[in-house]
Amino acid sequence: MRMLVTGGAGFIGANFVHYTRQHHPEHQITVLDALTYAGNEASLAPVRDDIEFVHGSVADAALVDELVSRSDVVVHFAAESHNDNSLNDPSPFVTTNLIGTFTILEAVRKHGVRLHHISTDEVYGDLELDDPKKFTPQTPYNPSSPYSSTKAGSDLLVRAWVRSFGIHATISNCSNNYGPYQHVEKFIPRQITNVLAGLRPKLYGKGENVRDWIHVDDHNSAVHAILEKGRSGETYLIGADGEKNNLEVLMQILELLGQPADAFDHVTDRAGHDLRYAIDATKLRDELGWTPQYTDFRDGLAATVAWYRDNESWWGPLKQQVEAKYAAQGQ
Ligand code: NAD
Ligand code: DAU
Repeated sequence: MRMLVTGGAGFIGANFVHYTRQHHPEHQITVLDALTYAGNEASLAPVRDDIEFVHGSVADAALVDELVSRSDVVVHFAAESHNDNSLNDPSPFVTTNLIGTFTILEAVRKHGVRLHHISTDEVYGDLELDDPKKFTPQTPYNPSSPYSSTKAGSDLLVRAWVRSFGIHATISNCSNNYGPYQHVEKFIPRQITNVLAGLRPKLYGKGENVRDWIHVDDHNSAVHAILEKGRSGETYLIGADGEKNNLEVLMQILELLGQPADAFDHVTDRAGHDLRYAIDATKLRDELGWTPQYTDFRDGLAATVAWYRDNESWWGPLKQQVEAKYAAQGQ
């Protein structure tokens, strides 16, 4: 199978390429990535000789048309992905997440190529802390931020192209990922690398917000299950029952790094901060027989801490600029 992976130099996309090389070496992989601040070719270094890498944008119609015309399937990860950035400047989110997805859709429609669209649980808005409910494929869309609203819009474009033009597409909405190669702007790598760099971790507000953590390899094994067995036109929610509030996660990071429990700062909260996400992945588990491998969050977190400790050359060059930007925002 000739597979076009958009956003393959980003966190989840790069891990997807590694996972695919390891578990499905029969696939030929082409990565299309614009190498924005979030993309890093070094994340693909271990597989660089086994894949084709194309530097370009998913919003470039001529390039996308050419690449899609010689693919059997597109796995579309490319996006602007950080909520905090979308609050400062929503414009690239509209271009990449909406126009980029539209561009991919027109190409797969023209060439009759299968699409798997990677999306987020944030399209569903948030839940109360004490609400027994979780997100299901029937939960109405109710996004909060410019990031999540552009992801919601991209999902709706895919659904419309399925219904109106009959394209062969599936969608997955996953919860918060953690693991190696995640940009240091995100919560878990930011706190780990703050400690490693001699800075104090930063917690938004009281730290009561809940995220449903899943290891990136479990996300990617679920994407492969959908590619192999998913029904066209369907949406699958991906999650591994990993609900934890931010304070709990930070306490585990501090402990794993041998720091006292009070060695962090409370900083300005995020505007419109979603309170809680929680995924009901019954459809994925029952229909496709998927199960996560990383069932112990603490083990997965310890491996992630070890990866950042061992790979300062990967994150070190990014750190100062990210922290300067946060400091200017009081975060
Ligand atoms: P990331 O920011 O780490 O990586 C995004 C990648 O896309 C980067 O390599 C970047 O260079 C590339 N990119 C950005 N604009 C592009 C463009 N116009 N053309 C081509 N490439 C472009 O993001 P991530 O965390 O790996 O997220 C990947 C996907 O998974 C996104 O669609 C995101 O919405 C979704 N998702 C992420 C999470 C999470 O926890 N990180 C959870 C659920 C879903
Ligand atoms: O739910 C899936 C989403 O998860 C993805 O769609 C997004 O692409 C991904 O970035 C992630 O979004 P979040 O906004 O939940 O992730 P982030 O890592 O930015 O923040 C996680 C939580 O930690 C959130 O409640 C905000 C908080 N936080 C974040 C940072 C960066 C802090 O308390 N301190 C921080 O320094």
